[in-house]
Amino acid sequence: MAHTIVIFGASGDLTSRKLVPALYRMFAKNRLPESSRIVGVSRSQFEHQQWRESLRTSTEKFVGKFFDAETWAAFSENIFYHPGDIKTPADFTSLATFLDSIESDNSAGRVYYLSTMPQLYEEAIQQLGKAGLADDTNGYRRVIIEKPFGTDLATAQALNHSIHGVFREDQIYRIDHYLGKETVQNIFALRFANSIFEPIWNRNYVDHVQITVAEEVEIGRRAGYYDTSGILRDMFQNHLLQLMMITAMEPPARYDSALVRDEKVKVLHSIRKMTGGDFASNTVRGQYDGYLKEEGVPANSPTETFAVLKLYCDNWRWKDVPFFLRSGKGMSCRTTQIVIQFKNVPHMLFGGKTRAPVGNRLVMQVQPAEGIQLHFETKVPDSEMKTRTSTLDFSFNQASGGELPDAYQRLLMDAIQGDASLFARSDEVELAWGIIDPIISAWRSPAAPPLHSYETGLWGPTESTQWMEDQKREWFDVC
Ligand code: BG6
Repeated sequence: MAHTIVIFGASGDLTSRKLVPALYRMFAKNRLPESSRIVGVSRSQFEHQQWRESLRTSTEKFVGKFFDAETWAAFSENIFYHPGDIKTPADFTSLATFLDSIESDNSAGRVYYLSTMPQLYEEAIQQLGKAGLADDTNGYRRVIIEKPFGTDLATAQALNHSIHGVFREDQIYRIDHYLGKETVQNIFALRFANSIFEPIWNRNYVDHVQITVAEEVEIGRRAGYYDTSGILRDMFQNHLLQLMMITAMEPPARYDSALVRDEKVKVLHSIRKMTGGDFASNTVRGQYDGYLKEEGVPANSPTETFAVLKLYCDNWRWKDVPFFLRSGKGMSCRTTQIVIQFKNVPHMLFGGKTRAPVGNRLVMQVQPAEGIQLHFETKVPDSEMKTRTSTLDFSFNQASGGELPDAYQRLLMDAIQGDASLFARSDEVELAWGIIDPIISAWRSPAAPPLHSYETGLWGPTESTQWMEDQKREWFDVC
């Protein structure tokens, strides 16, 4: 089957850094059919050949050792450029004519990738509809929408409503690139292809769960976006809640997009709503010390660059097991990990001869040292009955032969093949906003908990460490 991938926002960073390199790698691996075409659309004026040349340079840079001139030559024959402005209806009519002219038959499927400014999503969708580009009588028509999907519940609902006027839900692919990460998908395998973890994956054995997405980077030149967004909108509403859903969900009957997403959505339904004093006692807010000096950030900005949330799932599996979600910019290293902290043994036999064990931990390292570690107690050799923590260590990266594909490879191929399991559904996005919105409102109210400043390059505010001690737990750090 022939496919056409139309990228709106073609001159943007995401196209050159992620999308085209991902498509190139899939082509090189013979997974993208030769008959596939890529069409870039943006306001800049390029000739086809000019755009190909500029993509060649960026692709060579981003795929590194995987670049091969002959493969690129074959791949780039099917790259085209069509100048167009999302606000100009005539540009969509001419795009429709152009697409018809390059597709070999009228049954080609089309994926429209919206990689534009989010303010343009709605307009782009409406224009696609008006130009007849959403009509899937002959071939499939799908639309991929980048994050952020709305800025709160009301805007997400309005956007869903508007899109549903043009595309059916099964044609809509809302991206959360964390779901494209191999190690995130490996959580499904770990949980549902093994019998040894699932029996203890519940409140009877698990003390708590820690989900950390730490970034060394600061906001760079993104102040315009970041200062109105902050860490809850930028990271929690999407990536952290996605990681929590996959960790907490029940096994679906099959690995099928409707069933997987049904189970994820049930987790969101079960998250206990914060009220009253919860906003102060169950959250920590921070801002890295150089934030107010970043270009474009207002001098008194209250925007958080670090946050901790303590969430509970009120259901049979997880009742009263805290899920600690933590993310920050300007931290000491880049790491994403999920730690399942099991309860301590009920009674330690080895009395005064040993320290109290920290309990067993399963650490799912999403990045950068992709893998899984199981921490458990063993006897210190040649000692009396003393124990210490040892680790079983599985490296996902080594097991993959050293190349873990970028998230966009998987997500683009899934959209082309019509598998929406790793994309967010409309109800999922709205429920996630319903969890985050009240926290943002409380943080902007006079009763907001204090905004702690923290030194860049460390582990967020010291108050977060103290707060965790007050929870009678400690953060598991692996930098
Ligand atoms: C994006 C956020 O969605 O994810 C960025 O907007 C963040 O602020 C990025 O840096 C992190 O993604 P990754 O894949 O580098 O962990």
